[in-house]
This record gives sequence, C-alpha cells and structure tokens, in this order.
Amino acid sequence: MKIAVGCDHAGYVLKGAVIDFLRARNIDVLDLGAYEYDKEDSYVDPAFRVGGAISDETVDAGILMCGTGYGISIAANKVPGVRAVACYSPESAKTAKAHNGINVIALGGRETKPEDVPAILGAWLDTEFEGGRHLQRLNKIAKAEKSALNLHTQAGGKITIFTHPLIQHKVGIIRSVETSVKQFRELLNEITGLMVYEITRTLPLTEKEITTPIQKTIVHTIEGRKMAIIPVLRAGLGMVDGILQIVPNCKVGHIGLYRDEKTLKPVEYYCKLPFDIEERDIFVLDPMLATGGSSSAAIELVKKRGGKKISLVCLIAAPEGIERVHADHPDVNIFSAALDSHLNDHGYIVPGLGDAGDRLFGTK
Ligand code: RB5
Repeated sequence: MKIAVGCDHAGYVLKGAVIDFLRARNIDVLDLGAYEYDKEDSYVDPAFRVGGAISDETVDAGILMCGTGYGISIAANKVPGVRAVACYSPESAKTAKAHNGINVIALGGRETKPEDVPAILGAWLDTEFEGGRHLQRLNKIAKAEKSALNLHTQAGGKITIFTHPLIQHKVGIIRSVETSVKQFRELLNEITGLMVYEITRTLPLTEKEITTPIQKTIVHTIEGRKMAIIPVLRAGLGMVDGILQIVPNCKVGHIGLYRDEKTLKPVEYYCKLPFDIEERDIFVLDPMLATGGSSSAAIELVKKRGGKKISLVCLIAAPEGIERVHADHPDVNIFSAALDSHLNDHGYIVPGLGDAGDRLFGTK
C-alpha cells in the first residue's frame, strides 16, 4: 500500500507523526510537502498534490493535515475521485471509512495531538468500506462528478498537473538558483520528455496488420497527420528536444512574440507553422504560464492559421495564467509539470524559477 501525505504549516508537526506511524506499519509513503515550516504557506497546493496522486492512481490513499483538517479536505474534494473528510477521533475515522469509503483522511494539527495519530489512522486503515447502500450513494456522487467534469471541460478547459515523483523531483532541481545553465537545459528536456506520455494519451490510433517472425497480427499505430509542436520563442525551444526524442517525426513550428512596451500587449514577430497544421494535434510549448498573455496570443495565432486541436504544455503554471488561457480558449487543454501559488508584482511566478529564457540560454 502506498499513501501520499501533505500538509500546510498548521499540520506540519502532525505530518512527522503521521509518517512515523505509516513507516512503522511498513506502508510506502509519498511525502508531497510542505517540506519545511513556513507560516505563510497554504493548504490548497498540498491538497491538490495529494488529490492528484489519488486521481492518477500513483497512490492508494492520502492523509492531509492543516489546522483543522477542514480547508485542506475542501480543497482535496475538488480533485476528481477524492473522498476526503476531517476526522478527530478513532470513531469518526471508522465511520467515515465504513460508510463513506474515504480515500483521504484529514487531520487537524490544532485539534489532534501527535500521540493520538496512531489510534485515528489505525481505525481508518483497519476498517473496511461496507458497500451496499453506501456504495449506491457513492456511485451517484461519482456520476454527478463525472458530468460536472464534462461540463467543465467543454466550458472551461481542462488542466493536468503532473504528480509523478520523477517529474516532481526534477522540477525541484530545476527551480533551484544553484542549477547551472547546462543542467537547466538538460532538465527542461527531460521533464518535457516525461510529460509526453500523458500529453499524447488521446492521440487517435488505427489498426494495421503486420507479420511477426511467428505469424500475422494486428497492431496499433498512430493515425493521420499526427503531431505538431510549436515552441513560443525563446524559452519554448528548451522543450522541443524532449518531445522529439520520443516522437521524432513530429513537425515543429515556431512563434515569436514580444511585448509592446506601450500597450503591454504581445506582438507577433515570427510565425512559421507546418503547412498542414489544420490536420495535426498541436502542442504549444511555453514553459512559464505566468499572466497567460503570450500563451493565449500564441494559441490565437495558431487558430488563425487553421490549427484546431490545440493543447498548451508548460513547465510551471500560475493560477492567473490558467484562468486567462481558459477564458480566451476554453477548448485548449493545459498540461503543466507544476502548479505554483501566484504572480508577484513584477509578473513572475512564485515560487517559480525566474526567467526560463535567461536560465536556458544564460543571458543573465
Ligand atoms: C492556517 O492557519 C489554517 O487556517 C489552516 O491550516 C486550516 O485550519 C484551514 O482550514
């Protein structure tokens, strides 16, 4: 069994006790932060990280901790497939598992003492979901969640944040101010390469017959004109090789935009796209989704040239940028290796990694 844990500052001490308890029971632990005490941090990001790990089945269950367990469970419950409830006693943990089949238990660092953790978590882990009438109710909730999600996808776009440990590990290194230009370039390509598996998940397949050394058989092959990637100059260039290593036949377009200093609007200075762009699955590459202005303008440009099926692939996204791109282009799915907190007064993503173009090309 593998369990993801996450907390904010108010749950930080409790997280230590939780991890000790899980390890004593030989349970695999995926620690999704916070990794240090920071009284300004928020419960929302760890809740989404743990929720994401449940949703994509990286883990079997999750444990979240904030001051009360309330805020962090509200946030986690927004992630599809998560059933999170705050529990303060072994009895409430037992019922929440037996009746509600919770896959995430939330604890309150200001409500529960570290020494009470084993009894509460033990009750949760050792109780079976009762199924029956309870399952019917959960199924009904799951159905409503699914249709709400479909609605959301049509009206408001879809965002995928990557929770895979390898990606998180590499994002952790690339952020550091200590990381050299050479390492930055290698890491950006590696992270993008790891993202390819997910971003290409919906590419259409056709069947064809081949002959193996043993006999004829039907295999699957990616159909049609396939993919195009379009880096937004210049930082987007750092993501190109990572994709080409896995999909070498994919065509590459380029878009160059600069920000007009008076209007602050993005202005096109270069645009060269594959001639058959309207037939391809298009992935616009822009590592830092900050305000969303340039990504949105790049997508607009691709649409004007006939592009139809477009996704945006980023390294780090800020909520402001996601909102902007989805407001302008609700049909565009966004993939980002990480979701950060906010933008600072200079429009930089916080905590971010600074200017990706400068770090990639060593220009600062
Ligand atoms: C943070 O101080 C606190 O408000 C938070 O941890 C949580 O209790 C919210 O539900």
